[in-house]
Amino acid sequence: MLSNELKLPNYYEDPSSLHIGCEDNRSYYIPFALENTNESSRILTLNGNWDFRYYENPFVLEDFTKLGYSYKNYDSIPVPGCIQMYGYDHHHYTNIPFPFAYDAPYVPQQNPTCVYHKSFDITEENCNYLQYLNFEGVDSCFYVYVNQTFVGYSQVSHSTSEFNITPYIRLGQNDLTVVVLKWCDGSYLEDQDKFRMTGIFRDVYVLHRPKEHIRDFFIKTQLNNIYKNAQIEIKFNYRSVSVPTTCTLFDTKDQIISTKTVQDAMLAFELENPTLWNAEEPYLYTLKIETPDEIIYQKIGIRCIEIKNDIIYINGVKIKFKGVNRHDSDPVTGYTISREQVLKDLTMMKESNINAIRTSHYPNAPWFTQLCNEYGFYVISESDLEAHGATQFYGGSSFDTFGDLVQKEIFAKSILDRNQRNVIRDKNNPCIIMWSMGNEAGYSKAFEDTGRFIKAYDSTRLLHYEGSIHETGGHKNDTSMLDVYSKMYEPISGIENYLATNPKPYMLCEFIHSMGNGPGDIEDYFECIYKHDRFVGGFVWEWCDHAIYRGITTNGKNIFHYGGDSNEFPHDGNFCVDGMVSPDRVPHPALAEYKNVIRPVRAFLLDAATGKIKLQNMLDFTNLKDYVNLQAQLLYDGEVVETYELGTVDVKPHETTVLNITINQAYFKQTKSLSLKINYVQIFDKPLTKAGHLLGFDQLMLKEHNRPLVHAKDYHQESIQTEENSSLILLKGTNFRYVFNKMQASFDSLTIDNCNIIEKPLEYNIWRAPTDNDSTIRNEWESAGYNRALVRVYETTLTNKNNVVKISCRFAINAIQIQHILDLNVTWTIGSNGTITLDLDGKRNTALPFLPRLGLRLFLPKEYNAVEYLGYGPNESYIDKHRSSWFGRFKSNVENMYVDYIKPQENSSHFHCEEVILSSSTGKNIHVNAAAPFSFQTSRYTQEELASKAHNYELLQSEHTVLCLDYKMSGIGSNSCGPALANQYQIREEHLSFQMTLQF
Ligand code: GAL
Ligand code: MG
Repeated sequence: MLSNELKLPNYYEDPSSLHIGCEDNRSYYIPFALENTNESSRILTLNGNWDFRYYENPFVLEDFTKLGYSYKNYDSIPVPGCIQMYGYDHHHYTNIPFPFAYDAPYVPQQNPTCVYHKSFDITEENCNYLQYLNFEGVDSCFYVYVNQTFVGYSQVSHSTSEFNITPYIRLGQNDLTVVVLKWCDGSYLEDQDKFRMTGIFRDVYVLHRPKEHIRDFFIKTQLNNIYKNAQIEIKFNYRSVSVPTTCTLFDTKDQIISTKTVQDAMLAFELENPTLWNAEEPYLYTLKIETPDEIIYQKIGIRCIEIKNDIIYINGVKIKFKGVNRHDSDPVTGYTISREQVLKDLTMMKESNINAIRTSHYPNAPWFTQLCNEYGFYVISESDLEAHGATQFYGGSSFDTFGDLVQKEIFAKSILDRNQRNVIRDKNNPCIIMWSMGNEAGYSKAFEDTGRFIKAYDSTRLLHYEGSIHETGGHKNDTSMLDVYSKMYEPISGIENYLATNPKPYMLCEFIHSMGNGPGDIEDYFECIYKHDRFVGGFVWEWCDHAIYRGITTNGKNIFHYGGDSNEFPHDGNFCVDGMVSPDRVPHPALAEYKNVIRPVRAFLLDAATGKIKLQNMLDFTNLKDYVNLQAQLLYDGEVVETYELGTVDVKPHETTVLNITINQAYFKQTKSLSLKINYVQIFDKPLTKAGHLLGFDQLMLKEHNRPLVHAKDYHQESIQTEENSSLILLKGTNFRYVFNKMQASFDSLTIDNCNIIEKPLEYNIWRAPTDNDSTIRNEWESAGYNRALVRVYETTLTNKNNVVKISCRFAINAIQIQHILDLNVTWTIGSNGTITLDLDGKRNTALPFLPRLGLRLFLPKEYNAVEYLGYGPNESYIDKHRSSWFGRFKSNVENMYVDYIKPQENSSHFHCEEVILSSSTGKNIHVNAAAPFSFQTSRYTQEELASKAHNYELLQSEHTVLCLDYKMSGIGSNSCGPALANQYQIREEHLSFQMTLQF
C-alpha cells in the first residue's frame, strides 16, 4: 500500500461484521434537559453542508487520518441527501435483478465511495456529558472517524446506528469523517424495488447524555376483557446502573393523570376507562420520564390487537385495512424526506380515506412513525430486507431459488439483525400493529428464528411475512409464528379459495397494482374484503411513482426519468412508475377511485319511489354523526335539479340506518334518467383535513336511461343526390357533400357547408394505446393483428329512397397474415340534413383474444375543442374503473380531459355515455347518440403516438382533434402485476350489435 492511501477494514464484505463500535439497539427518543423547552438542548444536529469527495472505489482513498490532512479542496454536499441527486455516480433503477454479480458476500470492486467530513463544536456546557453520534440512515454502509481515529462501522441502510464517541471527543472543534460505500454484503438484502441511491440520507446528530441514563424502555398497553380498563406497563433498561426515575402521565390537555416512581426498572399505570387509540381517533397520552439530569417524552396510545376466531380485532372491534405501500421517494430529494413531505403524503392519504401504511420495504425515519401515531394510521413496519435477486441468476427461477440467499448460513445473523433494528427501535409506537420481517426474500430457518424472536420480544403485535409462502431449497417452512396469511396480487377466486379452506386471517400486503391507467379492480376487491371478516384488507401497490426530475421542456413539462433513462443495466423500465400519485404528488385518477371505494359510508337503494335508502357506516370506530354531513342531489338527465341537506345521522360503526328522502314525484313521470347522488362531507376540522372536505359519494339510480336513438331520416323533404363508381359513392345534400369509400365500408370525407368535419377517413377502431396493465395481453393483441387491422369489403349496396340514403356493407376486419378478427354488416343511413346513423351487427372471431375496444375513430379539425357529455365523469372512466365518477352531464375541453401518464398510454375514456357533443370555436358541433350507452374519448394525441413514446414530454400533438366513439372499451384491471382482466370486463362476446347517430 502506498503511504498516502487509507485501507478500510473489510467489514463491508463480511456479514459477520455488521456493526463495529455501535451501541445496542434501543427505542427512538430524543432526550431533553430538565428545563421545560420545546426544543432539546441535548441534541446537536449535524445536518447541513458537509465536505465531500467522491471516489470510484474504496482502494484509492486518500489517508485522511494523517496529521495535517486538509479537506480544503473537497466539494460540498447537503446532508441528509443522496449523492446521485447531486450529480455523483449515476441513477439506477432495478426491481428484482441485483445490479451486481451474484457473488455474495462480495460486491463490485468498482464500488462508489464517498468521504464526508464535518466539523462540530463541543461546548463547555456539554463537554461533561457522554456524546452519542446517531445516524438515522446511511446507504449502504459506513465507517466513522472522529478526530482522525476510527470509531466504528455500521450497515442496514434504513436503521439507526449509534456510536458512543465520548472517548474521541475534545472540547472545542472536532472532526467527523464518514466513509460511505455504495455496496456492501447488506446490499444483497436490500434489493428493494427502487432507484439505488447512496449516501447519508437521513438525519445525523450528537446526543449529550448524563453519565448514567435510561438506555431503553418498552411500553406495553393492555386492556381488560371488556376493553374498558387499561394497564400501561413500562420496563426500563439503564446504561449501567439504574437512576431514580419518575414517570408522569398526562392527557391531551396536559392534565396530570398520575405520577409514579420506577421500582426495579419497571412501573405500571392502571387506568379506568381511558380513551383508546385507533386510526380514526388517535388519542395520545404523554409520558414524561424524569431522571436527575434528563427528561424523555414519549407518546402513549392505548390499544390492543388480537386475533379471535381467526379474525383481527383492534380494541375488540373488527377492522379493515384500507392501506397503501409507501416508499421514501421524491423526484428531487430521492430517499431524503422531510417532515413536510411526509405530512403532505399523510394529508393526501387522510383526504382519501386511507387508514393504513406498510413501510415498504424498510423502516421509515423514526419520526415518521410518530406522525402516524399522532394523525392516526395503522402501520405495518417492515424490516430492511428484500432479496428477490436470488431468483434471477443463471438457472435461477422465481419458485425454485427464492430462498437461495437467505438460506446461506452467513446471512442468518443479518436477517435477525435487520429485524431487531426495526422492532427494537420502533416498539413504543402505538400505530404499529404488525411487524413485517421484510419483503420477497424467500424463507429459511433464519426467518423462523427471527420470527420467534419477534413474537417473544413483543407479544402485543401481529407478525407478517409474505415471503414465507415460497418453500424452496429443500427447507420445510415453519410458519407457525406468523399471525396472518398474507399474499400479494392474488385474484379474488384465489382469496375465496383460501378463506374456504384455511384458518388464519387473510391479508393482501400488496394488491391493486397502481401502474399507469388503473387499477380497475378496486371495488371488486373491496366487495370481497367487506364480505369476509377474516379478510382484513389490503395495501395498494403503491403510493407514489418513483422517478428522477430532470428539469422542464421548453413547453413547460416536467421531465421525469425512470429505469433505462440513465443507460443503466439491468433496469426495469417504468415499473417504478406505479403509484397512486405522480412523483411530485399530483394524484392520478387511481387515488380518486380508491378514495371513493373506501368511502366512510355506503348507501343502498331500498325503494326508488319513496326515496328510501339504507346507509351503512363503513368506519370501525366513529359514529357517522361525528364525522359526516350528508347532502343529497337529485340528478335528472344527469343534471342537478334538487338538493337536500340531510345533516348528520346517528349510525354507530359498522351499523346501518334507513333514511327517506322525499322526492318530488313529478320527476318520475318524465322520461329521462333520475338518480340520487349522496355526498359525504366532513363535518368538523381534523388535524390534517378540514370541515367541508368531500369524503366520498354514492349515486343511486332511481330510474334508468331511456334516451332513444335518433334515427337519420328525411327532415325537410330535401332529396340527396348520389353518384357511384366502383370504389366511391358521392352523396350530395342541400348543405352537405359526403364521400363514401366502398373499399373501407366508411366515409372518406364529410363536408357540411363546405367545411370538413373529418380531415381523414373515418375508421373502424379496435386498438388502443396499451396501458401498463395491458402489457401481457398486448402481445396477444399484437399477434392477432389488432394494432394493424384492415378492412376487407365483400359487398356494398346503395339505396336512395324517400330522401334517405342507405349504404350497406358486408365486410371483415382482418390483418396481414391473420384470419378474420370480425365479420360485420353495417348499414349507414344518411338523412336529408346530413345526419348519419350507423347500424353495426356482426361476429367476433372467438378464437382470437378479447378486443381492446370496438368503435369509430374520427379526425376532426382542431377547432373542435369544447366537449359536453352525458355519462360517467368527470374523471376518466371504464367499465371496471368508474367509482370516482358519476353519471352526469359534464362540460370540458379536449386538453383538460387528457390524463398525463408519465409513460403515455390509453387514457381519458368515458364509460356509459348517452350523449356526446363536440363543438368548434366557430359554433359548429357534432352530436352523438346511440341505442345503448357507449364509451367515448377525445384527445390531442393519437393512440399510435401514445403507444410509441416512452415519456409524456416526448409526445407530439395531432393536427386533429381525435374522437373515438366506442361500442365498448375493455376494462383496465391491474394485470401489470395483478391478475388478468376479469372476463366480465373484456369485449369477448361473439355477437356484436351497435347503433349510433352522428348529427352535425
Ligand atoms: C411486488 C414487490 C414490490 C413491487 C411490486 C411491483 O412483488 O413486493 O416491491 O416490486 O411487486 O411493482
Ligand atoms: Mg459486514
